[in-house]
Amino acid sequence: MTFLPHFDMLLFGGTGDLVTRKLLPALYRRYAAGQVSAESRIFGIARSALSRSTYTAQAEAACREFVGKEFDARQWEGFSRLLDYVRLDAGAEKDYAALADTLKDREAVIRVFFFSTASNLFSVICQNLARSRVVTPLSRVVLEKPLGHDTASADLINEQVGAVFTESQIYRIDHYLGKEAVQNLMALRFGNALFEPLWRRGLIKHIQITVAEELGVERRGNFYDKTGALRDMVQNHLLQLLCIMAMEPPASSDPDAVRDEKLKVLRALRPLRDRDVLTKSVRGQYKAGASRGVAVPGYLDEADIAPDSTTETFVALKVEIDTWRWAGVPLYLRTGKRLQDRVTELVVTFDEVPYPIFEMPNTNHTANELVIRLQPDESITMTILAKNPGEGMRLKPVSLALHLGESFKTRSLDAYERLLMDTVKGNLTLFMRRDELDAAWAWIDPIRAAWEQFDEGPKTYIAGTWGPAASSAMLSRDGFAWHDEL
Ligand code: BG6
Repeated sequence: MTFLPHFDMLLFGGTGDLVTRKLLPALYRRYAAGQVSAESRIFGIARSALSRSTYTAQAEAACREFVGKEFDARQWEGFSRLLDYVRLDAGAEKDYAALADTLKDREAVIRVFFFSTASNLFSVICQNLARSRVVTPLSRVVLEKPLGHDTASADLINEQVGAVFTESQIYRIDHYLGKEAVQNLMALRFGNALFEPLWRRGLIKHIQITVAEELGVERRGNFYDKTGALRDMVQNHLLQLLCIMAMEPPASSDPDAVRDEKLKVLRALRPLRDRDVLTKSVRGQYKAGASRGVAVPGYLDEADIAPDSTTETFVALKVEIDTWRWAGVPLYLRTGKRLQDRVTELVVTFDEVPYPIFEMPNTNHTANELVIRLQPDESITMTILAKNPGEGMRLKPVSLALHLGESFKTRSLDAYERLLMDTVKGNLTLFMRRDELDAAWAWIDPIRAAWEQFDEGPKTYIAGTWGPAASSAMLSRDGFAWHDEL
């Protein structure tokens, strides 16, 4: 394990969902693992007037809940000594004096400003940090997604944050990149020579990327209704997964070598615009249904959702990448809330044999398939055809399955544990560069615009199913089916 230098971490939005459910438990775990020095400090920053002890008590309750069985009261005792709280209204310049005072005489310590607030506050926080002179050469800023809601708003935020921090100090987070399983995808592709020659047109028929959630919008109605699945999930998580699946091997694992290759993929995505959306996209919204046998309300009846909202809770897209490697290979992307199962899965379907010399199975699984499951459990499964025992020469699909949890028997780090420590170490590999973000928005914006002009609105689907029927129809027009429908 790498021991880290001392740091001061400043968590804006310190009483919010992300900080309490994810960031504080992640920092506690890294402390318990011995990675965080006793000279480091962690500040929750928010508008409410809270004492240090009240904040620490809230943090303890959250860590007990989200760390679960591994929570250790003695470790907590040590960790809580690093915790403090600063009351601050992000827009009020005078409030930053208290922050500056707290940071005084610690200029030689790494300073991580983590913005876990709405992205329209990023600019004003940066301006106020600059005015109160707390941005040091050892400072870095972490920006939570979604960064803006389209190209123009993302540009503005990037400009304004860029006026205070240099690009190498800016960590744009996409927590999917911090998942162990996503790193494993890189390991699979670039640590093994086996797959590289197969990873291309002519050998791969199509690729599917599914990020399905069982949960609905929970308590985030306000945010979600303004955002929708395209911006909340596709613009970042799904496009990042697609990049890692499709990128050329980078020359090294250096941040820019990796990010250059991802950028090339984003720039080679065939634009999906105007009437394309009618055949290459499906947007949906859930109606009342059942999740794990329990009745659940429809999207329009969830808290903080406009009664006539047309926000999509489901998106399926047919994507094409215009490069020599990928021309003609469709990639189907799908994500949604209140789907049947929680699963994140990448499925690579290889071509069939040029013509059969044996009796082939009477199933849709005729081709070889590589299924990389990222969540809830991590596994890699390869389907191959083998001889059915007995007389004759009949083939049958069988699986070669690798369950990574069983192979390694250790707890994987939570995405935020890894990403927070990377911000302290100064490792940008798993964070998005500005040009990647620009390219992702540039591809997403025309889809939204075309939906508004040409599409009739989201198609409904019953909560607890796999989304609107139109999503299956989109694949069946190409002669394919979603993996769960085979
Ligand atoms: C977040 C989205 O980025 O990712 C949420 O805002 C979504 O809407 C979440 O639920 C899914 O993350 P995970 O790690 O649970 O797959």
